[in-house]
Amino acid sequence: MIKILTIIGARPQIIKAAAISRAVATKFQDKIKEIIVHTGQHYDANMSDVFFEELKIPKPDYNLNIGSGKHGDQTGKMIFGIEEILEKECPNYIVIYGDTNSTLAGAIAASKIHIPVVHIEAGLRSFNKRMPEEINRIVSDHVSTYLFPPTQTGVINLVKEGFSIENNPPYSIDNPGIFNLGDVMFDNSLFFSEIADETSNILSDMNLEINNYILATIHRNNNTDDKNRLTQIFKSLHHISKHQNVKIILPLHPRTLKQKDSLLQKEFLEDLNSNKNLIIIEPVSFLEMIALEKNAKLIITDSGGVQKEAFFFQKPCIILRQETEWVEIVESGAAHLCDADFDKIIESYKWFDENGEIQATNLYGDGNAAEKILQHLLND
Ligand code: UD1
Ligand code: UDP
Repeated sequence: MIKILTIIGARPQIIKAAAISRAVATKFQDKIKEIIVHTGQHYDANMSDVFFEELKIPKPDYNLNIGSGKHGDQTGKMIFGIEEILEKECPNYIVIYGDTNSTLAGAIAASKIHIPVVHIEAGLRSFNKRMPEEINRIVSDHVSTYLFPPTQTGVINLVKEGFSIENNPPYSIDNPGIFNLGDVMFDNSLFFSEIADETSNILSDMNLEINNYILATIHRNNNTDDKNRLTQIFKSLHHISKHQNVKIILPLHPRTLKQKDSLLQKEFLEDLNSNKNLIIIEPVSFLEMIALEKNAKLIITDSGGVQKEAFFFQKPCIILRQETEWVEIVESGAAHLCDADFDKIIESYKWFDENGEIQATNLYGDGNAAEKILQHLLND
């Protein structure tokens, strides 16, 4: 029996962890014991609790309740709390996901006391170190023992940074193993897609017609905290929903909700609030989100997870960023990088409106990434 200690904190990590917890419960119950530590980075019910209930993730064994804060304050408290738990639990591995401050805290706490770090979603790069996530990714990867990139691009990025795919076991922080076994988010989209069809009423509740509305999300800090960028994004959503007469559903991250009211000009906010086609709602559950994604005409987002799910469900996507870590999607033509640029967003919307068919190829594994990752840890 091996013991893994999983670190979660932000919404997308809770969702990613569901794939690993499901694989532990269904395939490795007698071989792997999982301890879950929630840092408390996300804490609103609709940013955290809702996913445990719906995705059947075991309740966290520990919740550090760190909450929001500046990077140093938040990450520092997490490192302190995680270290104490690691010393008590002595797991064989710590498992971290993605690129948030919770990921970084887990990586630093564990590597310093010689607990091997397993990084799921390793190797992704935006090549923009002004993103806090880019720093979190680079540092986490370089103290990991097992790196599981979800794409071949992730493997290539790591090799360019000096990692070797030729390393042999036993793996260690100085001799790490790199394996692309697929994307746990793809596992989840496949697994929950049918369940979402059967259980979610969000389309009928919101009176939405299939393939006749846009789904949008905004939360990236360089969009929410910059008055000009936030204004350009909201102006384009306002323009498309009003002049192209299409409903836009915007489940809004709490960060964006706060910034929208303080950064947008008062007159524009009034216009926005009177636009019946731009429907701002609270963050939705994962099953509701999948239902909204699968049936949308197009998706507009700055989220990493949502741009990928758009691709999984063969929906065109406008990415509200200058660059992406998921470069394959843009190269395939399924998504356009439009930054926070009003003209580019409108132009891209019109292009997809006329040329909407997306050819999705399988770039993210076979839907069993979580099981393969766990099997790997057991074998080595
Ligand atoms: C974090 C991650 C980002 C990830 C995103 C997923 C970092 C540096 N950023 O960004 O990579 O894409 O999560 O959603 O780790 N807030 C609430 N309630 C909550 C959570 C947050 O009101 O439950 C508000 C607070 O005002 C907080 C702000 O959102 O200050 C930002 O939260 P934080 O976790 O620091 O960063 P995110 O923008 O969520
Ligand atoms: N998501 C959700 N409800 C929402 C918005 C997003 O369940 O209201 C899910 C989405 O389907 C994806 C994940 O959250 O699986 C993406 O998280 P987020 O956009 O917060 O972060 P990122 O992926 O950019 O790090």
